[in-house]
Formats: sequence, structure tokens, C-alpha cells
Amino acid sequence: MKDSSHHTPVLVWDAPVRVFHWLLVLCFAGAYVTAESERWRLLHVTLGYTVGGLVAFRAVWGLAGTRYARFAAFVRGPRAVASYLASMWRRQPEHHTGHNPAGALAIVALLGLAAVTVAFGWATYNELGGEWLAQVHETAGNLMLAAVGVHVAGVVAGSWMHGENLVRAMFTGRKEGRPGEGIRRAWGALAALLMAVVLGYWLLAWREAPSPDTPTVPASQAAPNQPAPRS
Ligand code: HEM
Ligand code: HEM
Repeated sequence: MKDSSHHTPVLVWDAPVRVFHWLLVLCFAGAYVTAESERWRLLHVTLGYTVGGLVAFRAVWGLAGTRYARFAAFVRGPRAVASYLASMWRRQPEHHTGHNPAGALAIVALLGLAAVTVAFGWATYNELGGEWLAQVHETAGNLMLAAVGVHVAGVVAGSWMHGENLVRAMFTGRKEGRPGEGIRRAWGALAALLMAVVLGYWLLAWREAPSPDTPTVPASQAAPNQPAPRS
């Protein structure tokens, strides 16, 4: 049964959370499709580091951010998760104005797997150990893809069960709630700063990338001077 007291749209996701989310989607997808080819390695690494930066930002915002962005507001124990899933099963889903407890579990897994993937990608790239580093990196990346699948399925199921378009809410920031439940500030300037830092980093990485026809070995070593012809 629907509770009509939840029918006012209120601002739930601040702008930094929304920009973080869609940049993360873009970078993860980009890193994933460029993973296999040596040719795209620099793009893979750049997008991968961006994922790392985004996760670091989200970790800080999870402590210092707005009401629904805080980990303390949505990370719940296994009992809350089980209770939520049971309510879904009964077709009477519990209403949560922020993340629901099951969704929160997927979010923690996604952030954790992203951090592990990036750390092992970095270690592989800098040749800090053996082949096992690459294996852990690849496995973590693939587990993250699986978690994304579960996450998106959960979002679709949740949208359907709650009769609320959660994907649109990740763009507009607005969800159904009680009056007074919304956050007061969207933090638009911080979101713009986050976007500017990411774009700046990409520009720098692009400008510093060697052009395809730059020899990888300095010319002096590649073609040693011929001995002067004897006369
Ligand atoms: C690359 C894949 C993705 C990753 C890594 C990812 C990660 C995340 C994370 C970390 C959050 C938590 C947001 C926060 O509080 O900061 C989240 C929430 C959310 N994501 Fe994704 N996401 C991905 C793909 C998608 C896609 C494709 C969609 C749309 C179909 C989507 C829709 C949502 C929605 C609607 C929420 C809010 C859920 C709620 O209402 O509780 N995500 N996602
Ligand atoms: C979330 C971000 C990332 C994802 C999802 C990801 C995913 C992957 C996957 C699935 C592979 C295996 C490709 C294959 O051989 O089939 C791979 C390879 C690789 N990645 Fe990443 N990666 C990410 C970030 C990074 C970062 C930040 C770095 C380096 C700083 C990096 C460096 C590498 C390298 C060097 C390889 C080749 C490993 C080898 O086989 O020798 N990756 N990545």
C-alpha cells in the first residue's frame, strides 16, 4: 500500500553525488572497454585513476556531505538488509527517502571493488610485483562489473516496486519524501569544481601523452653515430 505522505518531491541527492555518480559510470565503462588493448593503455590508466579520484572524493563526502550522502545515513547491518528484501518480496517495500539498505550494500561493494581494482591496476602498471598483481586487478574489475549488474537490476526492481523513477532522481536529485525531509543546499559549486578537476586532469594527461610517432627510445641510442669514415 502506498503512503500518500511520501508524495512531495524533495531534494535528496546533492549535486556532487550526482556528478560523482555519472562520471563514475562513464569512467568505469571507459576503463572496462579499453582494458584489453595495449594501444589504449594510457586511456585505460587515465580513466582508471579518475575512478580512484572519484572514489576518494566520495569517501570524504560520505563523512562530510549532506544528509543522504553520509555513510552513517545509509550503511546498515544485515538485519536491515534482510528486512528490506523481505518487504520487497511481500510487494510492500519499506520506504527509504535516501538509499535503501540493500542498495546501500551494493554501493559499498562497488566503492570497495573500485578501490581494490585501481590499487592493483596501479601496482601492475608500475611493475611492483609479479603476474599475480595483474590477475587480482582483472578479477576485481570483473567482480565490479558483476556488482554493477546487480546494482542496475536493483535500481530497475526498486523503481518498479516503489513506482518511482530512481534513475531520473539520480539526474534531478529529487525523490518522493515528506515535506521537510529534503536537504537545503545542492552544493552546485562543489559539483562544478569536481567536474573541473576531472576535466583538468584529462587535459593534462592528454597533453603529456606521447604522440604515436614519437620514438620510445631516444634517437641518440636508437641510431648510434656511425664512425667517421677514414680518409
Ligand atoms: C558503471 C556502473 C555504475 C557504478 C559503478 C554505479 C555506482 C553507484 C554508486 C556508488 C551509487 C551511490 C551513489 C552515492 O550515494 O554516491 C549509485 C547509486 C545509484 N545508481 Fe549507480 N552505478 C553504476 C551504474 C548505474 C546505471 C547504469 C544506472 C541507471 C540505470 C544507475 C543508477 C543509480 C541510481 C538510480 C542510484 C541511486 C539508488 C537509490 O535510489 O538508492 N547506476 N550507483
Ligand atoms: C575501475 C578501473 C579499472 C578497471 C575496471 C580495470 C579493468 C581491467 C581489466 C578487466 C583488465 C584485464 C584486461 C585483459 O587482459 O583482459 C585490466 C588490465 C590492465 N589494467 Fe586495468 N582497470 C582499471 C584501472 C586501472 C588503473 C588505474 C591502472 C593503472 C594505473 C590499470 C592498469 C592496467 C594494466 C597495466 C593492465 C594490463 C595487465 C596485464 O595483463 O599485464 N587499470 N584492467
